[in-house]
Amino acid sequence: MRMLAAVMYTQGLPTPYEHSQPFRIEEVDLEGPADDEVLVEIRAAGLCHSDLSQVAGLRKRKVPVVGGHEGAGIVREVGRNVNTLKEGDHVVMVGVSDCGHCQMCIENRPVLCNSVAWSRSQGLLPNGNRKLSRQGMPLNHYSGVSSFAQYAVTMPQTLIKVDPAVPLDIVAMFGCAVVTGAGSVFNAAQVRPGQNVVVFGLGGVGLNAVMAAKLSNADRIIGVDIHESKFALARELGCTDCVLATDPDIVPRIKELTQGGVDFAFEVSGSKPAMATAVAVTRKGGEIIGVGLGASGDLYSYDHAQLVAEEKVIRGSFLGSGVPARDLPLYVDYFQTGRLPVDRLKSGTMGFEQLNKNLDMLDKGDVVRQILLPHGV
Ligand SMILES: NC(=O)c1ccc[n+]([C@@H]2O[C@H](COP(=O)([O-])OP(=O)(O)OC[C@H]3O[C@@H](n4cnc5c(N)ncnc54)[C@H](O)[C@@H]3O)[C@@H](O)[C@H]2O)c1
Ligand SMILES: [Zn+2]
Ligand SMILES: [Zn+2]
Repeated sequence: MRMLAAVMYTQGLPTPYEHSQPFRIEEVDLEGPADDEVLVEIRAAGLCHSDLSQVAGLRKRKVPVVGGHEGAGIVREVGRNVNTLKEGDHVVMVGVSDCGHCQMCIENRPVLCNSVAWSRSQGLLPNGNRKLSRQGMPLNHYSGVSSFAQYAVTMPQTLIKVDPAVPLDIVAMFGCAVVTGAGSVFNAAQVRPGQNVVVFGLGGVGLNAVMAAKLSNADRIIGVDIHESKFALARELGCTDCVLATDPDIVPRIKELTQGGVDFAFEVSGSKPAMATAVAVTRKGGEIIGVGLGASGDLYSYDHAQLVAEEKVIRGSFLGSGVPARDLPLYVDYFQTGRLPVDRLKSGTMGFEQLNKNLDMLDKGDVVRQILLPHGV
């Protein structure tokens, strides 16, 4: 079929993106689903900071690529070997796979599945197929999702069925922002009631960590950002205190608020200085959870002697360190029962023509989650 999609041909174009137009909105061809694939009509797709990093060229991807890794839609066709989904199901897209037989899948860590890591680097679906092209030229898939398009053919492991009562423009955010932010608290850190946490970076992912920390009955939940404008929403969603990242007294202030340091510091901004501060404000024996992502190959620095002598732990957390097929429906239930008010993170909606401009808005910190409606606003 022929459809509209946002195609990126070159990474690293200059800002403002409204002028350099890294995403070209074009008619592309999508091949129908093979026996083990599913056709989804994409109704909503979230714009994540990781999309911005790809556009900036911080992490190399095969181009040309149809962008987007956060999305939700309706199943329109299933391959004959697919028995877990049917036409009409509402689904959230998650850039994971579950081959079931690699070492990571055997250890129940589908987020780290070797087949999805390979297909992600190759711009293919996890089964090795390519479904996208333009005028005969092959186009790459983005994380097996490519949600900045009107339709996608993907694999059932990438799709999680959700209650159709939840609006698709809200549930789209669950595929990355929610599973990542909430999962970093529930799965990676496993915050216990009464513990103290700090979250660096109060964007779409960081605010989910804030909400999950509140749901975990954390005591102090401290939010840190370079933009004071992020503090009001952060407080409404659970932050007990907010501190500017540029405050020269940030380390003693957070230590004082927490009687010596936080149990868990979540670095969700992708900034190197934030990581050093995160290590500094963590108490003896506490953990620093690295969620934010900078450029591939970036080296970070922190006080290593303190890390050793105070037995701190640095832990990476990718897509929430959990099992999305298990966790995501639970988080949707938390949303439906008012415990995880994810709808508060939606800043607005956009059509394809505003996608590049929205990259600039996210870059400047003006918005939290902007939602692309590929079939029009
Ligand atoms: N680990 C994963 O699986 C995963 C998944 C999704 C996103 N990410 C990464 O998480 C990060 C956050 O993503 P997002 O979509 O929420 O981004 P976002 O742009 O919505 O939010 C980032 C926030 O960090 C703030 N910030 C920037 N520099 C800072 C600093 N030095 N100290 C404190 N705050 C600072 C910004 O003002 C902004 O509010 C990005 O690096 C993204 O690539 C990781
Ligand atoms: Zn993301
Ligand atoms: Zn696997």
